[in-house]
Amino acid sequence: MNITHMLILVLGLTAATFFILFVVYIFFYRKRMINTELEDIESSEQKHGDMVQRECLITFQAGEALTICDILDAPGEVIGKSNYGTLYKALLQRSNAIRLLRFLRPVCITRGKEFDDVISLLGCIRHSNLVPLLGYYAGPRGERLLVYPFYRHGNLAQFIKDGNGDSHKWAIICRISIGIAKGLEHLHTGLEKPIVHGNLKSKNILLDRNYEPYISDSGLHLLLNLTAGHEMLEASEAQGYKAPELIKMKDASEETDIYSFGICLLELLSGKEPINQHPTPDEDFYLPNFMRNAVLGNRIADLFHPDILLSRSRDHDENPVTEELILKFFQLAMACCSPSPSLRPNIEQVLWKLEEIVK
Ligand SMILES: *[C@@H]1O[C@H](CO)[C@@H](O)[C@H](O)[C@H]1NC(C)=O
Repeated sequence: MNITHMLILVLGLTAATFFILFVVYIFFYRKRMINTELEDIESSEQKHGDMVQRECLITFQAGEALTICDILDAPGEVIGKSNYGTLYKALLQRSNAIRLLRFLRPVCITRGKEFDDVISLLGCIRHSNLVPLLGYYAGPRGERLLVYPFYRHGNLAQFIKDGNGDSHKWAIICRISIGIAKGLEHLHTGLEKPIVHGNLKSKNILLDRNYEPYISDSGLHLLLNLTAGHEMLEASEAQGYKAPELIKMKDASEETDIYSFGICLLELLSGKEPINQHPTPDEDFYLPNFMRNAVLGNRIADLFHPDILLSRSRDHDENPVTEELILKFFQLAMACCSPSPSLRPNIEQVLWKLEEIVK
């Protein structure tokens, strides 16, 4: 072997070694992501004298196959942050399934048995329009992770904002509204003890490819301490979903859920956001007030997106949309947003009305 061959061989081997090291590094770095993320968050929180707890994983229907390693070794990507926690999109390595992981900050949660009771309650809720809780992990340093399915088609807020043609189709508006109402009906009337959603908004309504809606974050406020719950309520107010009578999150009720639901209906119908960030001097900030003024001022064109009526001729539906149906839908939405809780319909009345409109 001459010296050139030798040199090539050495260089080749060195390159190969570096490549292998790089691959190994990437592999382990990716694999440790959820773990690493949690440690980062943990170290930035003040330690609050908690004893080391036992690590545990509780799984619920359709989550039975989960293991602690699946969850902690999943490479994860942060997709949302709030005062009380962080949302990750994580790829479970063994099953190759994508899951949504919600990390709850230890300082924000209710303590002790109450937390566990709420988890078992939430874990048992199953309905075709509610996002199921698949599992729950508690770590040795008080870290908590909730595991949910991941819905790759995004949420209702994005869908309305993107304004693609489908969001102005009457049939789709009706399907989404009825689906949300059915999910909410299950929470309010289908369980042994009613669960108040507490944070209903279009961002918490996930969609599948057929635009079937799934309500997420049901009863999450029940896991939070009073301060964190209050912060959630303030966020809901800033986004325009808080019923006017609601002062403390612990007073959230079925009526306040109905108010938030009414806002979602108005969003669907008008394509507008619940709070107008840039109102002109004669426009109201809040969507229901804006609508009320539009009615008083006889500005019917402001009540719903004009394309909804246009879709009539294109779709060849057996149930064509009419202005009359749209106005009935609008009146229902406004009744849900009534300033007085006692004037709002309950969820059964809502569903009954919606089914009558769609029929
Ligand atoms: C509740 O959560 C907040 C964070 O939202 C935290 O600052 C506070 O210490 C917690 N309060 C209690 C009593 O644990």
